[in-house]
This record gives sequence, C-alpha cells and structure tokens, in this order.
Amino acid sequence: MLIPDINEAVDAIRAQTDRHPEIAITLGSGLGPLADAFDGVTIPYGQIPHFPLSTAPGHDGQLLIGRLFGRDCVVMRGRVHMYEGYSPQEVTFPIRVMQALGAHTAMLTNAAGGMGAGQQVGDLVAIEDHLSLATAAGFDPLRGPDDPALGERFVSLNKAYDPGLITLAQSIAPQIRRGVYAHCVGPSFEPPALIRLLQAAGCTLVGMSTVPEVIVARQVGMRVFGLSAVTNICVNTVTDSHITNAAEVFDAAKIIGPKLARFMEAFLPALPKGARDA
Ligand code: HPA
Repeated sequence: MLIPDINEAVDAIRAQTDRHPEIAITLGSGLGPLADAFDGVTIPYGQIPHFPLSTAPGHDGQLLIGRLFGRDCVVMRGRVHMYEGYSPQEVTFPIRVMQALGAHTAMLTNAAGGMGAGQQVGDLVAIEDHLSLATAAGFDPLRGPDDPALGERFVSLNKAYDPGLITLAQSIAPQIRRGVYAHCVGPSFEPPALIRLLQAAGCTLVGMSTVPEVIVARQVGMRVFGLSAVTNICVNTVTDSHITNAAEVFDAAKIIGPKLARFMEAFLPALPKGARDA
C-alpha cells in the first residue's frame, strides 16, 4: 500500500522539477529561514499526494528541491510530529519520498532541550544515539505488515547516526559536541521527574521529533546525520524557578538559525557523494 503512495508523491514532485536531490534535509522548529539560501522549486506539502500537512508553529510546510551550498538537496521546511496526531508511519512518509527521489543522505535538524553538563542555549550538538520510550513501547514506524519492498524488517540502530559524518562535522566545527537524544512525543514538555530519568539513562538532549525519521532513513539505507540546536535548558527539579515554555524555544531557534546556516555552508559541500555500505 505504501509503495504506490510513495510513487504518486514522487510523480507529483517530478512533474514540477527534474532535479535529482542527493541530500535530504529536515529543518526543525524555527530553523526554516536557513532555506533562504536555497535556489530551486518550492512545493507546498498540500500539493503532494499523501504528504502530511504541517500544523505546528515554526513549521512552514514546504518542500524545496534545488541547490543549497553547491549540493542538490531536497529540504523539508517544516516537519510533522506525532504530537500533531500523526502516526509514526505518517510522520516518516516524507523520508521515504525523499529517498525515492534519489537522496542517499538524511540530515535531520531539531530544536532540543539540553540536559547535559555544561550545555548552553545556542549549542549545536551532533546526535550519536537516541532513546525513545515511544518507539520502544510500540510507536515504531516500522510496525505493521511486512513489506519487503520498503526495506528490511528488523533494522539495526547500532551506529544509526553515521560515525563518519559526526567526525566530519566536528572537524568543520570543533565546538560541536556529541549527544544522546531522548525522544518524547509531547506536546507537553517533560516534567522534572522525566528529565531526571532520561539523564540517569545517559541522555543529554530531549525533543519531540527525529527518531521516527532516523529509523525509516536507516531502513531505506540512507546515511543519517542528526543535529540538535539547544533552545532551552531542561529543569530537573520542582524547586527550580524556571518554567520551560515554547516562546524560549522559538526565540532561541531564531538566533541559532544563522549559526546553523554557517555550519551547513561548510558541511554540505564536504558530505560524501554516495550511500554508506551498511
Ligand atoms: N523538550 C521537548 N522538546 C523540545 C524542548 C524540550 O525541552 N526544547 C525544544 N524542543
């Protein structure tokens, strides 16, 4: 059932452009302005059959296909989340479409809460592993009838985040550290007790996206790079006077946008030309 839907979406996109993107980029909350440096066609999600519509603030809902910093890219300016009511399968449909368009590498960005020692608002952190209680509890995008045409049934998530790309990112921007991303469906922010649990499990970032996309990107054999922009510092005790809120997330994302753009300007041209071997 999914394959015909993917093909229909690809056909609708190909009717508007004959470019073959090699890199798929998803821009997280408030990070959309990065795509201002982009030269190509813009297709609203509503014009692509079966594409989920973006309803979250800070997410524009446009697919851009063209050149960004010298590479052929397909960019999701705005993503969809499970907290909007979408299933993990719906959330990850665009990844399957972007891979079918030719993308061999997925760069997934997000806004995240920082939970690690020494983290500051404005930091960019390369994701090296993740923890998702949601996928572990059954909200896995690969759940459902097996369709070998979609890829492997049992996908390994060891080294899901391409180690070579993390090293490359750190060679370009040595201030970028590595982190473990905890996925919580939201949309409520995590209570202090949950932050303590996630910290005890070794997580240093928390957000409401990315993990379902990573799982599907690995199923279809893409290289994956995940980058979190720390937009707020998480509160892990009820005595802390700070109240986590969406405004601080969007304000910080706006400030981080230009920093992310500078990083991408150096990172995109340096990305490998093909898919990874395993
Ligand atoms: N929690 C969950 N998602 C987020 C946060 C957070 O603190 N900050 C940005 N996205």
